[in-house]
Amino acid sequence: KSSWVLMVTAQTPTNIAVIKYWGKRDETLILPINDSISVTLDPSHLCTTTTVAVSPQFTHDRMWLNAKEISLSGGRYQNCLREIRSRASDVEDEKKGIKIAKEDWDNLHFHIASYNNFPTAAGLASSAAGFACLVYSLAKLMNVKEDSGQLSAIARQGSGSACRSLYGGFVKWIMGKDDKGADSIAVQLVDENHWDELVILIAVVSSRQKETSSTSGMRETVETSPLVLHRAKEVVPKRVIEMEEAIKSRDFPAFARLTCSDSNQFHAVCLDTSPPIFYMNDTSHRIISCVEKWNRSEGTPQVAYTFDAGPNAVLIARNRKTAALLLQRLLFYFPPQSDADLSSYIVGDKSILK
Ligand code: PMV
Repeated sequence: KSSWVLMVTAQTPTNIAVIKYWGKRDETLILPINDSISVTLDPSHLCTTTTVAVSPQFTHDRMWLNAKEISLSGGRYQNCLREIRSRASDVEDEKKGIKIAKEDWDNLHFHIASYNNFPTAAGLASSAAGFACLVYSLAKLMNVKEDSGQLSAIARQGSGSACRSLYGGFVKWIMGKDDKGADSIAVQLVDENHWDELVILIAVVSSRQKETSSTSGMRETVETSPLVLHRAKEVVPKRVIEMEEAIKSRDFPAFARLTCSDSNQFHAVCLDTSPPIFYMNDTSHRIISCVEKWNRSEGTPQVAYTFDAGPNAVLIARNRKTAALLLQRLLFYFPPQSDADLSSYIVGDKSILK
């Protein structure tokens, strides 16, 4: 067998939903019960770096996550690999003398190495960055010509929220109507320069792995919560319209009100699940009280909070000055290594640490 290796490395940031996705109408294709909106973080923080390699010497597909080999046999990986392979084109690397014809891809195998620079599966959307990066790097390697919308529909089949990580800025995942999911894609609402005074700060309350995965949590919620359909049908559609408006006009008070309300409603449907799911802990609740009090005392919101499927707080400050004050308050109320277990901060903008 000839011995060459062709490689592509890509880096994808994670995204944090400000209007949450929670609940699937189709579990295999990963089709949601409502639209969602997220903000993609700066690529220099919380991102996945993935290298995909192909060689005629590889005998089967293999993957390493944070240097540990993981199985690719799960349906989600297989769906992504199959969808990308079926769209491969000819690839030629003249310098290395490599020529891969479209039909050769079916007999070639990949080695994939992926690394997260943040806690995996702790409610920091590691699977979002991971699957987006996997799909993107494989698409580059195989010269897939699809646009980002179509790639997002493939990443969605790895992890729902992954479809939103293919763009920067604010992104909307349109739930779609089609049974096959062709129209369940992500679109960019505005790019990363549109609202660049926002500063995102992540307070890592606990980097332990979450107890209830989003997959089983969503399933239990959809099966048992009387509230979740009301949320999906009556609440989220209006919120999505208002949120798009708030983002486009950079209206921070409206943005903060919608973000906090939606996070709280997502955790309310978790609590409405039987048995109830608790993603937040006492420290999370104390952070919420702290921000609510501060916003009320200022008369207009300064900071928005949102929590995903874990206790870690994502705090969005209206500008750098507010972010610096926020960091001061966090350090005062939750000194590192205190019993609050708020032991580290990931700051979305390095400049406020100066
Ligand atoms: O894509 P998943 O299965 O990791 O689910 C993500 C669910 C939330 O993070 C809680 C909400 C969201 O819209 O990202």
